[in-house]
Amino acid sequence: MPTRSQRLDLIPPYLFSEISKIKAQAIASGADVIDLGIGDPDQPTPPQIINALEISARNPATHRYDESSAGWPVYLDAAAAFYKKHFQVDLDPSKNLLQLIGSKEGLAHLAWAYLDAGDVSIVPNPGYTVYKVNSLMAGAEVYETPLKEQNGFLPQLQDIPTAIAKRAKLFYVCYPHNPTGAVATESFYRELLQFCKEYDILAVNDMAYATVTYDGYNHPTILQQPSGMDLAIEFHSLSKMYNMTGWRLGFAAGNPDAISTLSKLKSNIDSKQFPAIAEAGAYALENLDNEETMKLYHQRRNILVDGLRKIGWNVSSPKASFYIWARVPQPNMTSAEFCGELLKRAHIVAIPGNGYGTEGEGYVRLSLTIVGDKNGERMQEAVDRIAKSGLVPQLASSSS
Ligand SMILES: Cc1ncc(COP(=O)(O)O)c(C=O)c1O
Repeated sequence: MPTRSQRLDLIPPYLFSEISKIKAQAIASGADVIDLGIGDPDQPTPPQIINALEISARNPATHRYDESSAGWPVYLDAAAAFYKKHFQVDLDPSKNLLQLIGSKEGLAHLAWAYLDAGDVSIVPNPGYTVYKVNSLMAGAEVYETPLKEQNGFLPQLQDIPTAIAKRAKLFYVCYPHNPTGAVATESFYRELLQFCKEYDILAVNDMAYATVTYDGYNHPTILQQPSGMDLAIEFHSLSKMYNMTGWRLGFAAGNPDAISTLSKLKSNIDSKQFPAIAEAGAYALENLDNEETMKLYHQRRNILVDGLRKIGWNVSSPKASFYIWARVPQPNMTSAEFCGELLKRAHIVAIPGNGYGTEGEGYVRLSLTIVGDKNGERMQEAVDRIAKSGLVPQLASSSS
């Protein structure tokens, strides 16, 4: 066999393999494992979306290539209607929108469409690894902005060296943020746009969790801000908003040049999504808010956060996303050691924070998407097991 490309060796080793191994062993030995690791909605796709797919799949017009330039027209119209309804932004489907085969695909290909050797891509640390990996594979350098708890997990723009900013072409941010659950303010978006304007950078906002929010909170978008449409592109996904991870559907919205640059690359790589899936997605964007699932996440968030606080683990409660980002409660354990112990002692899977970058060391990510939970009972079971594990020190000392 020929050797693989040197670019592929730039992908860092898979950090979760040790956890996966212990998890597989625990399941094989008959343990009842509760998985708070994976960020994949456990609830099924709402039946109305499946009905819409069924109707569209029976229409032979959806059985052929989608030959449009940016996506199935009803889908793009629905994405524009979604933006107007949720963010009061007017988008022109012929200029500002591009259909994606999931937002991961678009976020990855954007790096390939923009970056050459010598360019810089600014990415968050901790963050979703796709931005960094694809920037490196495209031959660019990566500058990681540390996201610190004391700064609300927002990048500190004044700390970015001018020499880096001058060479940067893309500035990836993600709010609501995976893995920390942090949200962005409108003033942060405005500062980011100012920075991007000064250094001629495209602002890239990953909004995969745009409407996964609680307590009536609405997350702002960068396109709502002055000059947003001149300097930014936002990525949306139907995966988390509508329990549609397997369907592979998303869209990009924003600056027309950025949209057509990404579209040019994509038209040479993929031939778009099955149009019946796009029509079902259009139905979701126009008609649904997936309220039942959001209520369930809200209930689980409260059970987990309140339960952990009660036993002495002072975790914060996210306004958006389905992740709790918690400091490791054991002073002498790394994130990976803590997750290993949690799995051994409580049969609970959590993700070590350093899997999302060096700044994630000292944290763990707990997901609210818990398979088999109907009404918060599995989440309560998780809290009870953590309490019994003795891994939260205050409880250990008060119970001994
Ligand atoms: C922050 C973030 N962005 C994008 C994605 C990709 O979502 P999809 O490709 O399913 O649209 C994910 C998935 O986990 C994510 O966490």
